[in-house]
Amino acid sequence: MKKPVVAANWKMYKTIEESVNFVEKLKKKPLDWDEVHIILCAPYTSLFEMGNSLRGGSFVSLGAQNLYWEQEGAFTGEISVGMLKACGVEWVIVGHSERRTRFGESDEDVCRKADSALQNGLSVIFCVGESLEERENGKTSRVLQRQVTALLSQLNEQLLRMVVIAYEPIWAIGTGLHATSDQIEESHRLIRGIIEEEFVGISGEVSILYGGSVNSGNCRELSEVSEVNGFLIGGASLDADQFAEIVTTITEVKKE
Ligand code: 13P
Repeated sequence: MKKPVVAANWKMYKTIEESVNFVEKLKKKPLDWDEVHIILCAPYTSLFEMGNSLRGGSFVSLGAQNLYWEQEGAFTGEISVGMLKACGVEWVIVGHSERRTRFGESDEDVCRKADSALQNGLSVIFCVGESLEERENGKTSRVLQRQVTALLSQLNEQLLRMVVIAYEPIWAIGTGLHATSDQIEESHRLIRGIIEEEFVGISGEVSILYGGSVNSGNCRELSEVSEVNGFLIGGASLDADQFAEIVTTITEVKKE
């Protein structure tokens, strides 16, 4: 059985001090550390100090929320894999819908980013998901097919093992309205099916997370969806108490 993965996406929240305080608070929680994989995806500015604060203990992994695909050069404002790894970063979120829609990242862009991360030893949380309009027009499966296939075309089996997929329907992000268990089950099965077509026999090893308005109130119901291997959490991940509660719940449910 795979360990559940619980990833925090802090987005543009938390100063260095707030980030380190969160880590120190989380460390003290009585979590079942061996049974869950926690990834904290913080703003760039917090990564170095968080890396220091996590050093020596392997209880959580450090993640970034973005990167640029070049190693170095005249790319004002961008950050490379090497710079992230030097801070102790092991994971990076790629293809988040906020990057796709607000910052105009295309499938091609996000795949270049994923490729650069993976080829240089950084694991990837790759986000996919449909908009409300796409869902209402019956295009969900087409969108997921397009986004997942674009990624898979870059991968071999070894690189696939460094990828976690996060299904985040755009209409469920930050709205307080999570997708239903049936909707999640259906989308996760579809994603796994697409992976299985390309990589026969190993799709079951890939963790597929759900993201979109996950909180301490709904995490039990969402954890009970068999196809859910973990969560990618925005708003509710900002508070260490609530985040720890969600971690505890999914760890318990997945052990049952
Ligand atoms: P919320 O949990 O705030 O809905 O955000 C989800 C998300 O975008 C995580 O990447």
